[in-house]
Amino acid sequence: MVMTNLGILGSGAGSNMQAILDAIAAGGLDARIRIVLSDNPDALILERARKHGIPAEVIDCGGHRMKFPEVAQETTARKLAEAGVDLVCLAGFMRLMKRPLLDAFPFRILNIHPSLLPAFPGLEAWKQAVEAGASESGVTVHLVDAGMDTGPILGQERVAIFPDDTPESLHARLQLAEHRLYPAMIAKYATRLRP
Ligand code: GRF
Repeated sequence: MVMTNLGILGSGAGSNMQAILDAIAAGGLDARIRIVLSDNPDALILERARKHGIPAEVIDCGGHRMKFPEVAQETTARKLAEAGVDLVCLAGFMRLMKRPLLDAFPFRILNIHPSLLPAFPGLEAWKQAVEAGASESGVTVHLVDAGMDTGPILGQERVAIFPDDTPESLHARLQLAEHRLYPAMIAKYATRLRP
């Protein structure tokens, strides 16, 4: 079996990255995280990665709040390629990518989203679900394309919404599902990529 080299892009706490590391340590995922990149210099994901001895770097987005400038995407693609990455996993990464990053890793960028897509795409999907009065939500792992949470779906896990749920309590339960589903889907998809 060939081990998969992962690159992680995240903007926040990095709990999904930690779940991936835990799955690797437990033998459920034959992979290694080669590099972690973040658009947020203060993101906890960078600190967590460094604690595990994983190279962790900041992507300079030139002061843009939401945009992922082309030059920053080029730098990201180069850093991922230099680190020998086969599969890119977005884990709470808050910018939309188009070219040139998508072209550099065709069908090789995955994302985890905290809803049952196509329901509740975009920001704070847990809040959207509670505000809509939904009785169920969930999490989705999908391939990334140029749209907002629109790429082909690889797997989903359902999560019930209780009448007394707040956006925060739902998000906490969704995250537990993310931590189960994402490593399992990465392992499954990685076997499809192998020659
Ligand atoms: C996750 O809930 C993810 O679905 C969302 O952002 C959060 C990131 O959490 N898009 P973490 O950084 O993996 O802890």
